[in-house]
Amino acid sequence: MQTRAVELEAREADWEYTPGRRLPGMGFNGTIPGPLIEAEVGDTIHVRLTNGLSEPTTIHWHGLRIPAAMDGTESVQASVEPGESFDYEFTVPDAGTFWYHTHVNETEQLERGLYGALVVRGPGEPALDDDRVLMLDDLKLDEDGQLAPFGDHHELHEGREGEVRLVNGLQEPELELAAGQVERWRIVNAANTRFMRLSIGGRPFTILGTDGGLIGAPVEATEVLVTPGERVELAVGPFAEGDVLELEALPYDRGRGEPRRERFATIRVGPAKPSGASVPGILRQIEPLTAPDAEPTRTVSMKALMHGGHGQRDEDVPVGELQVWELVNETSQDHPFHLHGFFFQVLSDGQVAWKDTVNVPRQSQVRIAWLPDDRPGEWMYHCHILEHHAMGMMAHFRVVS
Ligand code: C2O
Ligand code: CU
Repeated sequence: MQTRAVELEAREADWEYTPGRRLPGMGFNGTIPGPLIEAEVGDTIHVRLTNGLSEPTTIHWHGLRIPAAMDGTESVQASVEPGESFDYEFTVPDAGTFWYHTHVNETEQLERGLYGALVVRGPGEPALDDDRVLMLDDLKLDEDGQLAPFGDHHELHEGREGEVRLVNGLQEPELELAAGQVERWRIVNAANTRFMRLSIGGRPFTILGTDGGLIGAPVEATEVLVTPGERVELAVGPFAEGDVLELEALPYDRGRGEPRRERFATIRVGPAKPSGASVPGILRQIEPLTAPDAEPTRTVSMKALMHGGHGQRDEDVPVGELQVWELVNETSQDHPFHLHGFFFQVLSDGQVAWKDTVNVPRQSQVRIAWLPDDRPGEWMYHCHILEHHAMGMMAHFRVVS
């Protein structure tokens, strides 16, 4: 186990998102996305955040089960003022694909690029030929190619979606893959609002993991829905030399916007290389927290959440007391529900996996279970459509020991 020291400066960045086109972005260390942080389970990460912007910021460690004081929200720390710094220090308990992002003026700061990935590796992971992180995002521009203004009423309600689709900060880039190889792709949806029903040229791929790391057993699929805040890990390939495939989002109707088929990247398959990839039939053992039909201990109404505003507070959660929450969406649009600091299991989808963000489709409900381990303090949950969060679609609660 190691201690890893990382310096992150939030600063303005001249963002060339495609050759010859630039935007005034914001990036950790001036890059979009920010630096990839890599660690092993049990490592301690020490991050000094320095704010080089002209507005306050913080960092939230999305998906990491760390102490409340390190969660990076304004309910557990003062936001970091321009010129100041803050030290985050925590131990990473779980292997998986996580991400870090600003938690202040998010609709704008995230749109401008203040996010990055954090990958934690554990023992006994499947061996693939390569391992890459793809942070998917979009950008909303006006007719002049400038960043569209933020936060009119319509945008707050519908969410902000733009026509420029990005992979790791670049518009529809080309990705090269060697024929015959199978890679592990760690995909993060870092967009404010855009839902991504991903397809890789219609070819089959294997789902290996989700928000909280590996799932129990690999699942073959030709598409996977990734909503804002969620992650998915895929085994991709093998393909044949000369194949050209598109990484795209298929139309998905979230109750708003126009469902369309959209390209994120083009994949070109180059000359073959030997493969040592193997995906075992069992990836790990995940014990169900409770029965799939367990009675809810609490109901969370998306409609009430949407209209409640920033100050709303949900009841305390006692350490060690199993939580079964019924997330009810009576509204006319889907909402990706994100719980800070704890993993949950979705009871209603028949899968046993660790999640921190789950889409609650409109006019439906999703039942989740989670066990508050001994990390008392102030926590929150919110819709990860950032405009909804900004409108106050969130609640605070305390975990109490
Ligand atoms: Cu990625 Cu408060 O969220
Ligand atoms: Cu929402």
